[in-house]
Amino acid sequence: MKITIFGATGNVGTRVINEALLRGHEITAVLRSNSRMSEFNPAVNLVIGNADNVEDVVKWSHGQDIVISATRPPQGEENKLVDTAKSLLSGLAQTKVRLLLVGGSASLTVPNSNSTLVVDDTDLVPTAWRDIALACLAQHKLCQENESVDWSYLSPPAVIIPGDRTGCFRTGTDELLVDEQGVSIISLEDFAIALLDEAESAKNSKKRFTVAY
Ligand SMILES: NC(=O)c1ccc[n+]([C@@H]2O[C@H](COP(=O)([O-])OP(=O)(O)OC[C@H]3O[C@@H](n4cnc5c(N)ncnc54)[C@H](OP(=O)(O)O)[C@@H]3O)[C@@H](O)[C@H]2O)c1
Repeated sequence: MKITIFGATGNVGTRVINEALLRGHEITAVLRSNSRMSEFNPAVNLVIGNADNVEDVVKWSHGQDIVISATRPPQGEENKLVDTAKSLLSGLAQTKVRLLLVGGSASLTVPNSNSTLVVDDTDLVPTAWRDIALACLAQHKLCQENESVDWSYLSPPAVIIPGDRTGCFRTGTDELLVDEQGVSIISLEDFAIALLDEAESAKNSKKRFTVAY
């Protein structure tokens, strides 16, 4: 598959590239500057662009099979995440390329809570994280309301950290997945497997899904 990645230098983006290369896909990584180009595998096609710029989204998605976006705005500018989602949806409505968006867990429901959203659970989302969680909520709503793009939205569990590539994890829909100890976690490496599985299968077209151990 021909895959364009926004957020390619990030925690999630770098693992997505590793996983996509392992599977033999053709990767175009969109970087905001050329300062980190030397870190990439030579097999990756490196281009300059910004997910907030609709013209860049159109340019770098044209002729591709899917765009995977895993961008994160700077602290204090959390609401930019919503502008980025608008730009991606607007550009991809023009090129008719699928969007696989790495979102947040904010809009999932807390298990056994009478449908409390993660964003409203102060144990899961302390005050310091509330702004990014609210931005993720708005980002998810934009996707739900969009009828022009073939989107899919992956909500991470509460925690994604570097770890092993096991391929063993559970998949859910709208509820935060927690293990027997109540922990909601996955490695970045397994999270990338979930993203590439979705890119290849398109199982969750126009849907949100989530993964965790
Ligand atoms: N539990 C949760 O809900 C949870 C947990 C973890 C992560 N997440 C979400 O997962 C996403 C990715 O997280 P991460 O940890 O991988 O982030 P990260 O390591 O901070 O990486 C962010 C990436 O986004 C890029 N970027 C930012 N704005 C961009 C733009 N406008 N256009 C193109 N690239 C842009 C950065 O590029 P530069 O190199 O140019 O800065 C960087 O590559 C975030 O949306 C985050 O909210 C959610």
